[in-house]
Parts: sequence; C-alpha cells; structure tokens
Amino acid sequence: MFAQKLPKDFLWGGAISANQAEGAWDVAGKGPSVCDYMPLNETGLRKLEDKLDSEKFYPSHVGVNFYHQYQEDLKLFSELGMKCLRTSIAWSRIFPQGDEDTPNEAGLKFYEDLFKECHKYGIEPVVTLTHFEMPLHLVKKYGGWRNRKMIDFFTKYAEVCFMRYKKLVKYWMPINEINMQTAFSFPFFLCVDSGIIPKEGENLEALMYQASHYELVASAKITKLGHEINPDFKIGCMLNFASIYPASSSPKDCLLAQKVATRRYFFGDVAASGEYPSELETYLDRKNYRTDITEEDRKILKAGVCDYLAVSYYHSMTVSAKNVDLEEIGDLFKLNVPNKHLTEKMGPWQMDPEGLRYGLNWLNERYHKPIFIVENGRWGDVDHLTSDGKIHDLKRIEYFQKHISEMEKAVLLDGVDVIGFTPWGCLDVTGAGSGKMERFGFIYVDQDDYGQGSQKRFKKDSFYWYKKVIASNGADL
Ligand code: BG6
Repeated sequence: MFAQKLPKDFLWGGAISANQAEGAWDVAGKGPSVCDYMPLNETGLRKLEDKLDSEKFYPSHVGVNFYHQYQEDLKLFSELGMKCLRTSIAWSRIFPQGDEDTPNEAGLKFYEDLFKECHKYGIEPVVTLTHFEMPLHLVKKYGGWRNRKMIDFFTKYAEVCFMRYKKLVKYWMPINEINMQTAFSFPFFLCVDSGIIPKEGENLEALMYQASHYELVASAKITKLGHEINPDFKIGCMLNFASIYPASSSPKDCLLAQKVATRRYFFGDVAASGEYPSELETYLDRKNYRTDITEEDRKILKAGVCDYLAVSYYHSMTVSAKNVDLEEIGDLFKLNVPNKHLTEKMGPWQMDPEGLRYGLNWLNERYHKPIFIVENGRWGDVDHLTSDGKIHDLKRIEYFQKHISEMEKAVLLDGVDVIGFTPWGCLDVTGAGSGKMERFGFIYVDQDDYGQGSQKRFKKDSFYWYKKVIASNGADL
C-alpha cells in the first residue's frame, strides 16, 4: 500500500563501534583484541603486529574515550533526538582471552550500565557482537576463524550477552560486515573479520570461504539460540553493501556483475534462507575450497535464519569483464572501474545516492526481509573547528539530504521495508582501516590522529540539521 510517511517507529539513530570509540583497552579486566595490536598507519591499512611498540600509536587504546564519556555523549545523542544507537560489545571485555569458562563481570557491567543509560533517554541499543575485533588470544592460539572451535567460543560469548541483556537489547547483529573479507588480498580484512594471519603460500580465497562458512554456522546457531532466549529478539545479518552495476550492457559485463553480487552477498543468502546459492556452491566444489562442511552445518544454517538484513552503504561498484576470467574472478574489490555517470568523487570512491535506492530495491527482491541501514556517510571529509567552536559542514548535510531522500523514495514509492537509518560515526571516531581520526559525525571530537587534544565534543551544523530530520520523521530534509 502507498504510504506518505515513514513508519512512526522508524529507527533514526547513529552508529559507532567499541574499538573505534571506547578506548580504555586494558581496564577492568579487558583482554587485548586484534585491533589493540594494530598501530596507526597514516598511508594505508593497519597491520596486526606481534608486540606493542612504545614508539607507535594504537588508536583503539584511546578511541574517543567513549568508555569514560558515554554519559555525556548519550546526552548529546538524546538532544539530537536519536531513537537508537548502534554500537558493539568488545568481545575481549566479556571474555578477555575468548576461551575462558566464566565471563568478566566488570565487562558485563559496563555494557549493562551503557544500555541502561541509553534507555534512560528512550534510545534503543542496536548491538553488534563483534565489530572488526576479537580476543587476540583466539587468533594466536587457534588461528581465528580458520578453526571450527571458534563456533563454540562465539556461541558461548553470544549466549552470555543474550542472557545478560535480554531485557535491554532487542536488535542484534552477530558480525560486522561479515563479507568484507571477500577483499581477501588485503590482509587487514581477513584479520579483522576472521582473525586470520595467512601463512606463506596459503590460498587466501580458500581460507576466506572456509572461515566464512564457520562464521555463518556460528551466526545461525546464535540466531536460533537468541530466539529461544527471547522470542522478541531481532537478529540481523550485517553486510557491507554497494550496488553493483555492469560497466556496459555487454552480456559479459552483466554476467560478471551478477557473479560479483553473488560472491559478495552470498552471506546474506545463507543467513536469510539457510542455503548457499547454487552458483557459489558449484564454484566452491569445483575449487575444493570449503573442505569442512557437514550435514549438521546445513541443518544449523536452515534452523537459524536471520530476521533482517543490516547494511552499510557508502558508494556503488561498477565492474567490467575486460581482462577478467569469468570462471575465476578473484578478489572482487580489485574489479571496480570508474562509472562515468557518477560525477562526485568521495575519497577513493564515487558518490551515488541513487545507487542506494537501486540497492534497497535489489536487496528487497533478493532477500524478502526488512532492511536496516546501519552505516552511511561521507568519506574523507576534513572538518574545521572555528574559534567560536563551530563546524560548518555543508557538504555532509548535502550528502545526507541526497541519501535520505533516495531511501525515502525506496520506502514510499517502491514499498521497500526499511526499518532504520544509523549514519556511521555519528560521533567522530577513529578509523577502522588506517586508524586516523574520522570526520563522519554530527558531533566533532577535538582529537588528532595521535589521540592528542581536549576530547571535547562540539556540535557541527549537521547536528542541528539531522535533529530537524529526526523530529520531522524524515519529512524536513
Ligand atoms: C565500515 C566499518 O566498513 O566502514 C566501520 O564497519 C568503518 O568500522 C567504516 O569505520 C569506514 O571505514 P574506515 O576504514 O574509513 O574507518
């Protein structure tokens, strides 16, 4: 039926993650996680190192001090009118090593207090169980998700969180951007998604598919478990999403676009239907890539299908079959070619608001599930704090105007069931890839790439604009 307005309970909010916001990396019994051993890299993606080096700076050790300042930050989120806050639990606050029998009470208490503080303001916590991190010990001792044992460790961790927060949290996501590891030739993504440190000569694509399988089984297992613990839980599969276009109408480009979509989003197929797409199943068999898959695994996948699809959307992707072997493909992230129809550059990508509407329709048709946009925002912006404490971020406002408008068309004109919108880094946080300070937010944090600064928060112009958007339920853009 044609609706003129977004639903009344539409979840307007913002998103951050534990390791990029909290800091306090070693307090109250927290164990080290992979990101705590990844120093800042000013020129590229961070790498996991064996030892801490006192000469280097580790962004997750400081975050933006959300661990100590969350009460003040929540006041600001409430002033903004946020209906929900997407954040994550640092696995190593709850299980410092990952394989213990009993959880760390101080870690559990921290999140209990945080979620209660959210509810004080009527803000619904939306929680990711692992956002680009895991206890370092699980990587060192077990090899991360290359090891089937991870399914049990993760299930135990999830069960402890579900039990403890069953009255405080309704919306859950097992693994942030579970599909980023399809960029397997970048060690960063295999490491943060799967805790995999490749050995000399290993086939990275094979490793990625095996680890992904264990992660999907674990996600399905905890989805079933979560529903048993609280039937009201909504547990979603979280994908890094870009609409995928063929570079031309040539059948080869179109076939490649279709295959790339399957390779990049099969995680969603498995989570939403409990089955692998046949094209991928055939590829994996042909390559003998997923050697450990059991009949029991398939039953678990079927029994734990997700409630919604959560996506990040920053840009689209255009692929050309020129110089690509269609029967192999390889690392998908190396295939992107410039799209001449898109004119605005945004960091390394091209901005594509209409791609969001296209993508939401595509997701809707493929998965038939509600969709939660849990990340969106402008890449590569530099904000200037004026002497009177203001940030005039007109470009950010324009970006969101265009994207929210396309989202609304998808809902109101195309009938897509979008349940919420949480822009990434509503509060400026440290970057995942490089670790440098990122200026995605509506709230500026006075801190530089090396954690220096007053850490004071300042409202950007976009803060007042987004407040108006939320207050009008998206009518006043
Ligand atoms: C998403 C991640 O992929 O992109 C976030 O879920 C991340 O954690 C965001 O911060 C932006 O990427 P980056 O590397 O610029 O921080």
